[in-house]
Amino acid sequence: MTSTTTAHDEASALAIDGGPPVRSRPLPWEFPGGNRIGTEELELINRVVKAQSPFRFYGPDLQHMVDTFEREWCEKFGHRHALGVSSGTAALSIVMGALGVGPGDEVLVPGLLWVSCISAVVRAGAIPRLVDIDETFCINPDDLERKIGPRTRAVLCVHISGAPGDLTRISGICRSRGVALIEDCAQAAGASQYGRAVGTFGDIGIFSMQLNKTITSGEGGVVVTQRDDLFRRAVAMHDLGYARDDDGRIDTSDESCQLWGIGARMSELAGALGLAQLRKIPDIVSSMRDAKWRIRRALEGTDGLEFRDIIDPSGDSGLVLIFTLPDEPTCRRFIDALRAEGISGPSGSLAVVTMQEWGLHWYCNIPSLVHKRSNSRDGAPWTHPANAFAADYEYAAGALPGCDDLRSRGALLSIGSTYAEADIDDIVAAFRKVARELL
Ligand SMILES: Cc1ncc(COP(=O)(O)O)c(C=O)c1O
Repeated sequence: MTSTTTAHDEASALAIDGGPPVRSRPLPWEFPGGNRIGTEELELINRVVKAQSPFRFYGPDLQHMVDTFEREWCEKFGHRHALGVSSGTAALSIVMGALGVGPGDEVLVPGLLWVSCISAVVRAGAIPRLVDIDETFCINPDDLERKIGPRTRAVLCVHISGAPGDLTRISGICRSRGVALIEDCAQAAGASQYGRAVGTFGDIGIFSMQLNKTITSGEGGVVVTQRDDLFRRAVAMHDLGYARDDDGRIDTSDESCQLWGIGARMSELAGALGLAQLRKIPDIVSSMRDAKWRIRRALEGTDGLEFRDIIDPSGDSGLVLIFTLPDEPTCRRFIDALRAEGISGPSGSLAVVTMQEWGLHWYCNIPSLVHKRSNSRDGAPWTHPANAFAADYEYAAGALPGCDDLRSRGALLSIGSTYAEADIDDIVAAFRKVARELL
């Protein structure tokens, strides 16, 4: 066993109790693509700046960065259509518009998600209905089957932390019940299941390129779909509500595509950054997956330490290692002890956190949901007459027992894309040392 900075002995006292820490140098920042921004990104951005053409649809010397990004994205992952947009949050709203979700509809969402999943549904005027999760930390197919009802318009499944739940079952349920499947792949770029890329299982899907994601354009997102009709509507939605002609000018003439757009286009600068990052996805994902599974395999079998169920480990993007401890107090103490052993990044980073600290990822941590808040004075969508069917839906803690259990005793380690051998060794050593004392 090696250590980056401190000679240590696994048998010594825990650092939290005054013993020597496993390491004293911070782990690298966790940003997978962000850590690898370099000359390739600079070169493509320079081309856009030199051409004075930062808008994707026209300009004096268009470099077609967003077009190229979308084309290469489809080639890499097998999506029929990809549309670069301004963020993952915008992408979710675009999806609601593309599917025509509105008052009178409910969209089923897992209790472990991101606030943007809920806000997209609520801003569309529809009602989010909570579904529990299972040991995959993704939607529980049994609870999903129970909750699909006459009002269900779509199921939004979230591939949390780089790996999807049981997509064969989930997509089968949606198909047989006639509801649309939306894949939120914001945290899972580069992931797949049994050889099929995420985002190809559902009717439509989204990705994010915010800094914490597999690749980044600072802010950015992608809408993907295999369906031509949804793509056409998504293109109009992300723009001004209409199609564009071959010169990139708005074309309002098609009566079948006159919508209300949200102005969430991707700029050529974000396209250039995204394109350079997209080309690095294989390297980023293989380094994260390799590091994560080396850590996990070294720790499997440790009494009291359990790992998230991953349906197809070979398709895991490796972004995050999720684990559980026997109970809430042990979980809190375990994470504090790991931090004391030096398993933490630079100030402001989130290397290890308890699930309770994971903020707006949990349904019951979202005050606007728990209290059914509205952006408008009339209290919509909760007060809309077409949504009266949902009057007794509850969103406070206690609504989903599976979520509440995993939230109370779960934790996660963000996996860096630039870990050295010594970083991995130190993480394993710290887990073993803390487990020996606390479990
Ligand atoms: C699951 C999930 N969906 C959607 C989003 C929204 O993406 P963005 O931050 O690009 O708006 C995020 C971002 O954190 C996410 O984690």
